[in-house]
Amino acid sequence: MTFKLPDLPYAKDALEPHMSKETFEYHHGKHHATYVSKLNDAVKDTPMADWDLERVIHHADKEGKQGLFNNAAQHWNHSFQWKCFSPDGGGKPSDSLGRQIEADFGSYDDFAKKFTEAATGQFGSGWAWLVIEAGKLKVTNTGNADTPIVHGQHPLLTLDVWEHAYYIDHRNARPKYVETFLDKLVNWEFAAENFANQGEGNQTGARSYGDAQEAFAKKQKAS
Ligand SMILES: [Fe+2]
Repeated sequence: MTFKLPDLPYAKDALEPHMSKETFEYHHGKHHATYVSKLNDAVKDTPMADWDLERVIHHADKEGKQGLFNNAAQHWNHSFQWKCFSPDGGGKPSDSLGRQIEADFGSYDDFAKKFTEAATGQFGSGWAWLVIEAGKLKVTNTGNADTPIVHGQHPLLTLDVWEHAYYIDHRNARPKYVETFLDKLVNWEFAAENFANQGEGNQTGARSYGDAQEAFAKKQKAS
């Protein structure tokens, strides 16, 4: 199996004026493409060439193969991220995810504040995330290529805060990029799908939210 750069789920200019065609030409067409190309070079003529991406990521993490981990995890993170944007995005989530955000953060505004702090507070390159951990929603950030899937967390939503993600459109103004993401681009439908079924969109094949809650309750009872 050769790893492939996924197509974007919209046209390169579909998110303008909030995220430019030029950003996608570089971010998807060059940065993400390079991670995929380096990953393919690394697994070529090894048994890993037939593994799925998550198996490569977990193996590289466990064995301390940093270069392999970086390219494999960046391929996963970016593939996940493209679905976190929508031309009809922005605003607040509805239905069960909206209610869970209120239950776990207090309000949508409290969530937005935490997410903004995680994204702007990540020193240097990395990612901001909304994840499920131990049955609860949580905002977190990771450095460089690091990904929640090796930390027992189940991603619902992410935002790349590497400079390559925002420098063309916002120069050095990371807070403006995060604000634009939440106001105009965030794809809550994708996050809600991940919340509801932890299925295809999530790519982790992880347990369901219900299972996670049950496991958490059992752990609490036992301790
Ligand atoms: Fe990126």
